[in-house]
Amino acid sequence: MSKAGTVVILAAGQGTRMKSALPKVLHEICGKPMIAWVIDQALSLDPERIVVVVGHGAEQVRQRVEEGPGSDRITCVVQEPQNGTGHALQVAAPLVADEDGVIVVLYGDMPVLGPWSLQGLLAARDSAGETGMAMLTAYPESAHGFGRIDRNDDGSFKAIVEHKDASPEQLELGEINLGVYVFPAGQLLAALPRLSSDNAQGEYYLTDVPQMLAESGAEVATVVLEDLDEAIGVNNIAQLAEARWALQVRILEEHMENGVSIEDPASAYIDADVVIGQGTRILPCTVIRAGVRIGDRCEVGPFTHLRKGTVLEDRSEVGNFTESKNSQIGSGTKAKHLSYLGDAVLGAGVNVGAGTIFANYDGIHKHTTHVGDGAFIGSGTTIVGPNEIGARATTGANSVITSTSSVGEDEVWAGVPARRFEGSASVAQRKISHEESKS
Ligand code: UD1
Ligand code: CA
Repeated sequence: MSKAGTVVILAAGQGTRMKSALPKVLHEICGKPMIAWVIDQALSLDPERIVVVVGHGAEQVRQRVEEGPGSDRITCVVQEPQNGTGHALQVAAPLVADEDGVIVVLYGDMPVLGPWSLQGLLAARDSAGETGMAMLTAYPESAHGFGRIDRNDDGSFKAIVEHKDASPEQLELGEINLGVYVFPAGQLLAALPRLSSDNAQGEYYLTDVPQMLAESGAEVATVVLEDLDEAIGVNNIAQLAEARWALQVRILEEHMENGVSIEDPASAYIDADVVIGQGTRILPCTVIRAGVRIGDRCEVGPFTHLRKGTVLEDRSEVGNFTESKNSQIGSGTKAKHLSYLGDAVLGAGVNVGAGTIFANYDGIHKHTTHVGDGAFIGSGTTIVGPNEIGARATTGANSVITSTSSVGEDEVWAGVPARRFEGSASVAQRKISHEESKS
């Protein structure tokens, strides 16, 4: 299959209907901005270069794009003013170095489109001969607002007619243009200077190019997108939610295929870029943000919020109104009730009692607390960071471990502020005697 030399992403539009100061393509979906989903689509084709046409909020969009994946191949080009999709390609054209190969056009506001559909489109282009192009179409419930596909009597492609330019008969056509195309580079570059703005919107329409190619005798192949979710174009907040839902389902399905059990997919919110090991159970009403790493055979939830920087090692359990941020939970460690784990590094086999708070923030800085293997943190303990709790140490219920205390291995501390109880057996020591008495 021919390689995509250049992918052009159109993202200059204003997105007025979002009613937001944030540029439309920077709205987040499952932990990353909409434009990043589209860049992933582009990267799935392994192109030589990606040109992002920016306009409204150009600087902000450029910044996000340049700090994300694939940035070494991406160039942003500013389209100002925005005189239509054809004009956007005219602005991008000087960056398309070679006339061989193909140019793929994507929209910055179609985050759900699957890489597999683009593969299908590239294959269709390849079957359309040297001068042929391919485009995605669909039959939505309502074609309102979209460009319609007009065909000749023999069924071959004739033209795309924009809604505002369409005759009453053309408005009845049910097949729409999705705006995703694969052009032979030479054909597109030759056609762009010939576009005219003589139409209802006074814009340069990219949609005139397929008609120009068809009239020159080239084949215009159309591929019907069957899964209409992939066609979701985000123009307002409700469509943003629709796209989010479609992508969320895709993420959950991938985890389930990998052997993660998700008890209630309808209430599991898992961002992109989350790793979850085999045999882990995700219980209802759980939010897991981008960057979280979870090992094998863990249990998360119900009602749990795992934020950025959280790592759960194998067989650890975090649940029931527990929040974790930038924390490491050692293997077999449990924090199962009403806790806040902020900047906490917990060893293996730690028991974090109900209502434990890692008070990591002094109002200015965040501080890290380390807890050694096998420690027992009593219910309601507040540990003020920075702090060190030794291995197998015990803290009493409702104790406040201030940052000036240093809880050594096997020690027992309790009270407000906590002090050391010399001669008291830690929970770890009592467990050993208990086991011994049984044998
Ligand atoms: C376009 C198509 C229409 C298709 C529809 C599918 C044209 C003329 N029409 O219409 O046939 O059914 O998409 O959604 O192409 N953009 C720029 N610069 C511009 C104008 C637009 O970068 O000057 C970008 C927008 O940010 C957006 C995309 O191009 O990502 C589509 O623009 P939009 O104005 O939404 O096109 P439609 O009128 O919906
Ligand atoms: Ca649109």
